Amino acid sequence: MGFGRGKVILLGEHAVVHGCPAIAVGIERGVTADAAVAERDLLRLSPWNLELEPDPKGDEPLQRAFAAVLALYPARPSLEVKTQVDLPAGAGLGCSAAIGVAVLDAIDQTLGIERLRADLATAALAWEKVFHGNPSGIDNTMSAVGGVALYRRGDALRTLRSNKPLHLVVGHSGESSSTKEMVASVSRQLQSDPARVNKAFEGIEVLVRNAKLAIEAGDHVALGQLLDLNHTILSSLMLCTTKLDDMCQAARRAGALGAKMTGAGGGGCMFALAPEHDEALRLRDVLGEGSFVAEVSA
Ligand code: MEV
Repeated sequence: MGFGRGKVILLGEHAVVHGCPAIAVGIERGVTADAAVAERDLLRLSPWNLELEPDPKGDEPLQRAFAAVLALYPARPSLEVKTQVDLPAGAGLGCSAAIGVAVLDAIDQTLGIERLRADLATAALAWEKVFHGNPSGIDNTMSAVGGVALYRRGDALRTLRSNKPLHLVVGHSGESSSTKEMVASVSRQLQSDPARVNKAFEGIEVLVRNAKLAIEAGDHVALGQLLDLNHTILSSLMLCTTKLDDMCQAARRAGALGAKMTGAGGGGCMFALAPEHDEALRLRDVLGEGSFVAEVSA
């Protein structure tokens, strides 16, 4: 069974596209996939009841992504890949990257190919590139490797260690958004007002560096404050919606140590950092439908 996990970016999204570091965690929820030799190439996606043939010029990005992945296996039989997706799409949790990683993992297993999870992540970039032109690589890397890690484009992933688990509560705004469009919007802002946007990226980089220390020291009070500050900077880049802001406020009022949007923004998910497991369960009720607890050990 192939598996690609979902991810939550703790700090640094968008800035990571432009070379800054970011910190993310892999979560237990994700995508599973099975591949089998078949009469023709076919990708099935549940629970959406989608059935697609690969086509490098297809209208549907999934067709092009499947074709890009199959092209990585030059001598192979025809394959049918069935996936089970347990992540919301367009929600900032790395759903597309997780599908790509799971599909590659399943094909590798069927063809008897062994490779490191880090190499699986690199291969999955071919899939990710179809969905947005300029992926930093954080989604496919965290999907394949997991854990709590500091990622910077072009550098080896740095796993962070701590003796204190992170009690995260992920909430879904119910609004879906396109990573491609949100990344393009930040790039447009960078072009038209480089001084303001570079200042925002510098601010985010400082927060990421401090967050690394806070995670390693188990100082979640400090980490929570850094999350709030990162949310404010992302707001200044017009990536937050009223719903995401309201959910973050509600979580803070209900006792979260910090809260921020996560991923591309413009909708999708936010998360809150809870002091303890029981508090996380309480915050999940506050955040309502679609929210879930993700406990992550560094
Ligand atoms: C999307 O999950 C994270 C972004 O930073 C895009 C990327 O890193 O490729 C918005």
